[in-house]
Amino acid sequence: MITTRYIGELEPNTPLFYTDFLIIGSGIAGLFTAIKAAAHGQVTILTKKSLKESSTGLAQGGIAAAVHEEDSPFLHMEDSLEAGAGLCDIGAVNVLVSEGPERVRELMAAGAAFDMKDGSIDFTREGAHGRARVLHAADATGEAIRVALVKQCFTHPEITVRENHFLIDLLGNSEREDCYGALIYDTTTDRQSIYLARAIIIATGGAGQLYANTTNPDIATADGLAAAFRIGCEIADMEFIQFHPTVLFSHETQRFLISESVRGEGGQLYNIRGERFMSKYSPMLELAPRDVVARAILSETTATGSEYVFLDMTKIEGAKERFPNIYRTCLERGIDIEKDMVPVSPGAHYTMGGIKTSLWGETGIYGLYACGEAACTGVHGANRLASNSLLEGILFGERIVAKAGEIMYRRKVREEEVYQDFDRAWVHRSAEEGIAPREAKKALQNIMWEHVGIIRDEQGLKQAGQEVEKLYRTMTRGDDRLAYYEMVNMLTTARIIIHAALWRRESRGGHYRSDYPQRDDIHWLKHMSVVNC
Ligand code: FAD
Ligand code: SIN
Repeated sequence: MITTRYIGELEPNTPLFYTDFLIIGSGIAGLFTAIKAAAHGQVTILTKKSLKESSTGLAQGGIAAAVHEEDSPFLHMEDSLEAGAGLCDIGAVNVLVSEGPERVRELMAAGAAFDMKDGSIDFTREGAHGRARVLHAADATGEAIRVALVKQCFTHPEITVRENHFLIDLLGNSEREDCYGALIYDTTTDRQSIYLARAIIIATGGAGQLYANTTNPDIATADGLAAAFRIGCEIADMEFIQFHPTVLFSHETQRFLISESVRGEGGQLYNIRGERFMSKYSPMLELAPRDVVARAILSETTATGSEYVFLDMTKIEGAKERFPNIYRTCLERGIDIEKDMVPVSPGAHYTMGGIKTSLWGETGIYGLYACGEAACTGVHGANRLASNSLLEGILFGERIVAKAGEIMYRRKVREEEVYQDFDRAWVHRSAEEGIAPREAKKALQNIMWEHVGIIRDEQGLKQAGQEVEKLYRTMTRGDDRLAYYEMVNMLTTARIIIHAALWRRESRGGHYRSDYPQRDDIHWLKHMSVVNC
């Protein structure tokens, strides 16, 4: 797969800044890594909008870890491997489950206050977990973590945070296959700058915005993934997209999640005829894996000619207190969860694939690391176990920083080298006339939802491929620089997802092909990765 190396132009006399660790993204992965790195050198966090905007801040259900005395890393591993449907990297899962409890304790020490009951942690249960092991802060766990980590970052003398700083491109030397910095667009001043660092860490989150229905916030446009691809990183497992079954139904692009922990606490699903249907699809009923529940909902809505099914929370004792965030949001939309059924339908939720990394967060490009949802560490395989993502977010930063000795030894790159290495021939050229980025986004979201969504087949994927290529060729720059950059990134990522989804002629985890509906371990216990060449 071939694409360009840059989407921005390196303008003469661009202001230049040095730091030791440059972290792109201020979700759980970026913030936690920053705190760890700050023990070794200067850290700069750049984030594209405000610190509030991330998937992290929206996370509801909680963070999974074998912290309970009757639980064990082994049991957590069993559930993670089962969910991952044969494609997890066992070494990575071992790191996740065995180092996870210690990192979670650090998170608590950093100020993340999880719910307690009778003096002990109040664990909740979510789909495909063999036991209750999810720590939570009511139904707004991510925000509790985010606020605690932001406070730590703001008070640390070695950490600088800059909002409204958008990663355009990664900078490096293509022959040496290294990365030493980033080209950044400051959206408040409308100016660009160069940041050079000894280590560049991509923590830019997932790709949910590629889909017309998603739980993900506006920032989830796969920028870091696409920039890493352009500079030569391997991008793996992109056919595996997780669709969350229960998202509050509405026609808005950014939709509100109704946490899986609602079903963990006894919430039940009904079709619009009032029939409880999950027993037709899985003995695990409402707590079956997300892909199974999402397809079941799709099947019920198709059969009944409705756009949604109902989630009944009325039988959950104390639902209003246990789920205050969900209660409030539903009430704002005229739904009282204690009396009314909640209309829900699936939405794109999580990107299992990403920038392929080693167990130490290394990308294969010297100096460039990735962590959090942007990375593919191998812990999720074909499907992520609920609440393993926040956990992954606090794990690999520590491991990247374990190499701080080596990192701090790296020499500083001189300004003139940056200009020498930047080859203008590799800058993406937009069409002179055609579709503007904002319109292209809507078109892309519909194509992806329709043909590269919960159920896929060869014909639909090929059609999606052609339509995305057309958008890629005919998109103009428009008048909004940010929208343009994001759209090139989304189109690049869409091409990778479609390519991988066409390649995998079987169904497994977050990838379901109606023309190959069976899991086929004989031929497909393998991974797809793409590299820009
Ligand atoms: P994010 O938190 O998404 O942060 C990405 C950061 O990168 C943002 O600050 C963004 O602004 C920045 N960024 C992006 N592009 C650029 C750019 N070009 N330049 C500069 N900065 C950029 N997981 C769980 O484990 N438990 C849960 O209960 C849970 N609930 C969820 C509920 C919702 C509604 C959603 C959407 C996800 C949920 N998840 C949950 C998944 C989990 O929240 C995410 O996978 C995780 O928070 C990702 O963290 P991150 O740090 O990798 O990315
Ligand atoms: C949820 O609360 O349902 C989301 C949990 C997750 O995505 O891990």
